[in-house]
Amino acid sequence: KIEQKVDSVLNLMNLDEKIGQMVQYSAGWDLTGPASSKSAQDKVDKMKKGLVGSVLNVVSVKEVREAQKLVMENSRLKIPMIFAYDVIHGLKTIFPTPLGESASWDLETIQKTATIAAKESAASGLNWTFAPMVDVSRDARWGRIMEGAGEDPYLGSLIGAARVKGFQGDDLSNINTIAACAKHFAGYGFAEAGRDYNTTTVGEFELHNMILPPFKAAAKAGVATFMNSFNDIDGIPATGHRVLQRDILKEAWGWNGFIVSDWGSIGEMRSHGYAKDKKQAAEIALNAGSDMDMESYAYEAHLAELLEENKISLSDLEDSVRRILRVKFQLGLFDDPYKYCDEEREKNNIYTKEHLAIAREAAKKSIVLLKNEGNILPIAKDVKSIAVIGPFADNKDTPLGNWRAKGRYNSAVSLLEGVKAKVSKNTKVYYEKGVELTIPTVKPGSNQFLYPLEFNTKDKTGIKEAVAVAKKAEVVFLAIGEDAYQSGEGRSQVNIGFLGLQNELLEAIYKVNKNIVLVLSNGRPMDISRASEILPGILVTWQLGSESGNGIADVLFGDYNPSGKLPVSFPRNVGQEPLFYNQKNTGRPYNSKHVTYSGYTDSKKSALYPFGFGLSYTTFSYDNLKVDKETMNVDGKITLSVDVKNTGKVAGEEVVQLYIRDLVASIVRPTKELKGFEKIMLQAGETKTVSFTIDKEVLQFYTINRKWEVESGEFLLFVGENSATKMKQKITVE
Ligand code: IFM
Repeated sequence: KIEQKVDSVLNLMNLDEKIGQMVQYSAGWDLTGPASSKSAQDKVDKMKKGLVGSVLNVVSVKEVREAQKLVMENSRLKIPMIFAYDVIHGLKTIFPTPLGESASWDLETIQKTATIAAKESAASGLNWTFAPMVDVSRDARWGRIMEGAGEDPYLGSLIGAARVKGFQGDDLSNINTIAACAKHFAGYGFAEAGRDYNTTTVGEFELHNMILPPFKAAAKAGVATFMNSFNDIDGIPATGHRVLQRDILKEAWGWNGFIVSDWGSIGEMRSHGYAKDKKQAAEIALNAGSDMDMESYAYEAHLAELLEENKISLSDLEDSVRRILRVKFQLGLFDDPYKYCDEEREKNNIYTKEHLAIAREAAKKSIVLLKNEGNILPIAKDVKSIAVIGPFADNKDTPLGNWRAKGRYNSAVSLLEGVKAKVSKNTKVYYEKGVELTIPTVKPGSNQFLYPLEFNTKDKTGIKEAVAVAKKAEVVFLAIGEDAYQSGEGRSQVNIGFLGLQNELLEAIYKVNKNIVLVLSNGRPMDISRASEILPGILVTWQLGSESGNGIADVLFGDYNPSGKLPVSFPRNVGQEPLFYNQKNTGRPYNSKHVTYSGYTDSKKSALYPFGFGLSYTTFSYDNLKVDKETMNVDGKITLSVDVKNTGKVAGEEVVQLYIRDLVASIVRPTKELKGFEKIMLQAGETKTVSFTIDKEVLQFYTINRKWEVESGEFLLFVGENSATKMKQKITVE
């Protein structure tokens, strides 16, 4: 039915109107990219003529209505515009950054937070978010690592699909859902040297086995749109990549949504040295299958001319328009272009108590306990005294992270607030900032993209006061790490340790009080090796959103038993980056006294904390790993089971993880690949048997035949609490 409607609209459209649908403008200001050259008036005039398909960065019912009116009241065909915004981890109720939330390995909660983000966005008049980012990312230096699900394609696929389902529900026309966007297609997370926008050089097999799976999962989950990416892959800019966009996504996967370019990425093919001018860039992008031009102004300027010159085809152009109209029909915008414009809903559906409760739930589930020597945690609520120290101790803004949409400046619950709300009246809570991490060069709270950071390396005056309170306290919560804007777009770093004077603060406090719990504020995996060596307690608390401090306090004081597991490896040293668990063995894997093996002369090659790692306030044992048979054929299946016991004194959740290794294959396979997990709750003393089905889904990969298939031979199946597990069982596929 929708197809007929799409065709009937398409039949009414003239060429300019068709091209207009393929144009996306940012609202009058430049929020998420370099300043555009187009005047606001020009944009308004184009909208009035019905020559704009979509707008981004219009963010309230009032503004959406005004903009939509320009089209509906002035244009010939009155084709509604679709309104987009980067709603990455919540609109106004802010949830943990996507990487942090991925540490929960809790697909239900992840889907729920996307559902709420969609509800708040739809209530603000929005129809479309540029999320989820499903780029597999393995390099802690890359600022955008905070925006994805980490280093693993399997976990990333499940999380990506959960987020798509959360945003879109099962009906895009529902008043509470919005269109999602799988980005950045493809390879953006493999930017060389972790430098944003940089070249990606991956081979065909790496592309299919490591990078594409989460995109495929998003497509399968019905994601309405894709965004291509800024990088080139082995010399071909993704925006102009025909094989990726047309052959794989649209043809092989049969996906029928539309692809939006990234901001200006069509025009940027000139800087890549791939197009001589904007006209050629438009030609390349359209022929490669990019359907909508975000802020390059290349399509509006050149598609008509290119058609005239037979450099592009009308059928390709119409295919793009059809795809865009289809999503607009799915959203119900043709039935009512103001469907999402209801001030009452906007007033009542945003930043509600219920949403904040879910934000707290998501926050506590995302925390990862890395170290708990001597069971320093949890802390008794009637502890005599606590010193909460550090630049993030009473920070109400950093927990909102980067990409915080309409999250209000300074609106998060700080750690200090969370702690104070939790402890008994008799507990003395001291606070000292210790050091000023950054010297803001523009007004805090202003546009994040105009917010360069300068680190304070001079002013040490606060350290003395911090030491003084640390001396008096039974335990110190040391809140150091990264500012919200140290990660995110364009925020790559070569130093992923504690910047500014934070190391000095740590050492000074450690001299007077050894009872320290590091409460790490981080968008990315950081080099915490020194802290890990000397401190008894470490909690990775990412940037946890609106309810951050409450969620952390829930864990610190034992109201929630931490269950998070790292979705990315934490290195010993930045020099190991990119670091990921699913590496290949190499021809020289052995560690020996000899230097001629694949490792480092000045460091171990393993992660400090590996992928999948995370402790609990209880302990678990794994026993009785067995298979129902040891041999299967390629279409058969084997059941693998393991008994997991809670061997500690309190109830706790464990993420039971399954990894495989294909021992000999037509292309070299990683030494371990995550292929399944189950998050289970166990009471103290309780045992549960967890089973995994080993079948084609689990064992297949993109082989030398350029097909997803299972190759016969031997496989190792590993089960355990993290990717370093050694518990294994061999099977043979005949
Ligand atoms: O959605 C983003 C993208 O991820 C990076 N460049 C800007 C886009 C729109 O804001």
